[in-house]
Amino acid sequence: MRLCFLVEEQYRYDGMPLDVIRQLHAWGHQVDVLRPGRSLIPLSEAIRAGSHDAWILKTVSGGPGLSLLEAAAAVGLTTVNDVRAIRGVRDKALAAVLARAHGLPVPVTYAAARAEEFAEIPEAQFPLVVKPADGSSGRAVRLVETPDRLVDQAPTGESGGATGGLLIAQPYVPNSGTDLKVYCVAGELYATERCSPLHPGHAVRERQVPLAPDVARIVEEAGAVFGLDLYGVDVLLGPDGPVVVDINDFPSFRRVPDAVARVSAAILHLARKGGGRPFPDRAVPMATVVPAATPLTAIGGDR
Ligand SMILES: Nc1ncnc2c1ncn2[C@@H]1O[C@H](COP(=O)(O)OP(=O)(O)O)[C@@H](O)[C@H]1O
Ligand SMILES: [Mg+2]
Repeated sequence: MRLCFLVEEQYRYDGMPLDVIRQLHAWGHQVDVLRPGRSLIPLSEAIRAGSHDAWILKTVSGGPGLSLLEAAAAVGLTTVNDVRAIRGVRDKALAAVLARAHGLPVPVTYAAARAEEFAEIPEAQFPLVVKPADGSSGRAVRLVETPDRLVDQAPTGESGGATGGLLIAQPYVPNSGTDLKVYCVAGELYATERCSPLHPGHAVRERQVPLAPDVARIVEEAGAVFGLDLYGVDVLLGPDGPVVVDINDFPSFRRVPDAVARVSAAILHLARKGGGRPFPDRAVPMATVVPAATPLTAIGGDR
């Protein structure tokens, strides 16, 4: 197989994806590596139909790699993950609407460019969790107890970035302080639990835990809805059952046994299967005007 990995600067020393690159190379495959944050990319020469069996990216929020992966998809190359699937989850506002529209259990979600707009949300829905729509790794995630704490506590949207500085807010889902992080590699699911960044005192080292069938069904459904092949889902066990708070393309698969070999084998399988098709191939969705303080997730149905 001929593979091309885009390695973002943030991961240039990380086992994921570097060990996967080494593994695939050791298995005898041709693996080209591009570092879009640190090199000149000869676009016309490097991104050509038929140049590789697959292009692979472990994304980073706002990183340059995703544009190049999209360029690869545009000429019909197979990408891991699919670029549309990555866009669907990299923007938490889009992810919340899509997930809700497909019946996944996600919290009611609001969006605004400035945190103070969330003061219009009914007080009964506080405390809120406010987070950047293009956030990751717990960056700038805040618990806001009351409307008057919105301005001093919550992150303000910065202009720019993949989502234009958009923020989202959701009612806080009461939970034990540990996230259930479920990873999917080649259709196999692995569950771990880890301390929530909103409960820092609750020290739990990430460790593997059994996966309940109802959570497994939700995670599989999330993968199918977004079209993701390598992904992780953050689930909270709330008073009304499991709730999906985050979906990540190509996570680090920490605590997944033999993660490097599994991810490498999954990439080969996806590259062999192909599925690359010229992009874009979909009609642009019609714009929807949302009245003030309407939950984003109300667009998808009345749950
Ligand atoms: N609605 C929510 N209710 C309770 N806790 C939440 C909620 N949303 C997020 N969290 C907590 O904050 C953490 C980080 O939020 P998440 O949406 O996963 O963003 P990130 O992309 O930064 O990981 C989650 O793992 C979870 O512990
Ligand atoms: Mg998360």
